[in-house]
Amino acid sequence: MFIRSIHLQNFRNYGRLDLDVGPSVNIFYGDNAQGKTNLVEGIYVASSITSHRTSKDADLIKFGENEYKASLDLTDDDGSNVQLSSCYYLEKSSLSKYGKPGRILIRDNAPVDKVSEYIGVCNIVIFAPEDLNIVKNAPAFRRKFLNTLISKISPSYFNLLSNYSRLLAQKNALLKSIKSNYKSENIDPQLDFWDFSLAELSAEIILKRYKFAKLISDIASKHHGSISGGKENLQIEYSTVFGVVGALETFLDKNSKYDEFMHKGLSEGDYGRIKGILSDLVLAKLKSVRNYDIDKHISSTGIHRDDLIMKLDGLVMKNYSSQGQQRTAALALKLSELEIIKMFVSSTPILILDDVFSELDKTRRMSLVSAMKDAQIFITCTDKNMIGDEIDVMGGSEKAEFYLVNSGNIEKKA
Ligand SMILES: Nc1ncnc2c1ncn2[C@@H]1O[C@H](COP(=O)(O)OP(=O)(O)OP(=O)(O)O)[C@@H](O)[C@H]1O
Ligand SMILES: [Mg+2]
Repeated sequence: MFIRSIHLQNFRNYGRLDLDVGPSVNIFYGDNAQGKTNLVEGIYVASSITSHRTSKDADLIKFGENEYKASLDLTDDDGSNVQLSSCYYLEKSSLSKYGKPGRILIRDNAPVDKVSEYIGVCNIVIFAPEDLNIVKNAPAFRRKFLNTLISKISPSYFNLLSNYSRLLAQKNALLKSIKSNYKSENIDPQLDFWDFSLAELSAEIILKRYKFAKLISDIASKHHGSISGGKENLQIEYSTVFGVVGALETFLDKNSKYDEFMHKGLSEGDYGRIKGILSDLVLAKLKSVRNYDIDKHISSTGIHRDDLIMKLDGLVMKNYSSQGQQRTAALALKLSELEIIKMFVSSTPILILDDVFSELDKTRRMSLVSAMKDAQIFITCTDKNMIGDEIDVMGGSEKAEFYLVNSGNIEKKA
């Protein structure tokens, strides 16, 4: 798939942008704070709805305005065209019918009601300095990485996550409302209901997360090995509610179902059995912490606390690894994302490299670009002369197009 043109309205420092782009390598250069990252963020938001650098949609609206729109005109590998638009408005906007902030998604001029029917249409993988957060920051960054990847491949997973978040918010509201004399308020049946529903959804989410964490671990470890010259061994382990991974692995081992689970998918009977085992375990755990949760008014346990534990030669990276090792691991993770999307999705993903070359040494830069042949690529940098050999590896300098970014304006250069 490739982008033919990009349209931004009131997005970050762009009042209005209508830009045609080339199908191969597009290089955006310019001084600091001119709008290079804002542009690629706009491209990413138009395809994936959320930004790679903020979770607050309101940040994306141009200062002083009430709504933004980010649109892409795209052509798929089979030659068919599609247009995607993602809008977000504040309660002050004329688009806000109910006086609340909200979002409008449009595909080919028709509104799309379900986010799950929008996010898989155009797959973009973005490499940015923020990727380092996945390795060194809080578990939420690793969950976002895992959730985004699985949602792009499996829209049903996105629906599971939304249902889980909604139920969890309702359960948390109930926990917050409980007074100290809760026994007399007949709260337990209500909590039983939420916990049962959450445990059922958790089992399905866990099965997806376990599988994709394994894939990420295998593929990222291969990339990490080749970038580090075979010196280091990266491993990624899925961490969830206590005892659950052990129970899943025992089930797969005992029944010799690991390969089937990873590649073909379990039979309906086996899937139902393991789902039952996992939801029972999660439910038991939720019940075991109930008094504590009531006391603290929080949901202390559950898959909303999941993590990916990254280890280098057996040591937890967050605690022991150097900056360089963390950079290599972040790059390896993102390369695994690209490879996994290619495995599951038929159309070629589009790639964005936001200011990454300046942070990587030659070996890492070459590992990055050699994974990128044949795709449409958007690169941002402050100095266009910084990119030399890389363009040749990516598909030839004769195909590269250059654009100067200056205060929210973009000019194509010869
Ligand atoms: N919501 C917004 N409305 C208007 N301007 C914004 C908004 N958010 C950020 N900006 C402005 O956009 C500019 C930053 O743009 P951007 O991050 O794209 O820079 P850049 O060209 O990528 O620079 P660098 O080379 O430093 O990475 C800043 O001047 C910032 O004030
Ligand atoms: Mg930038």
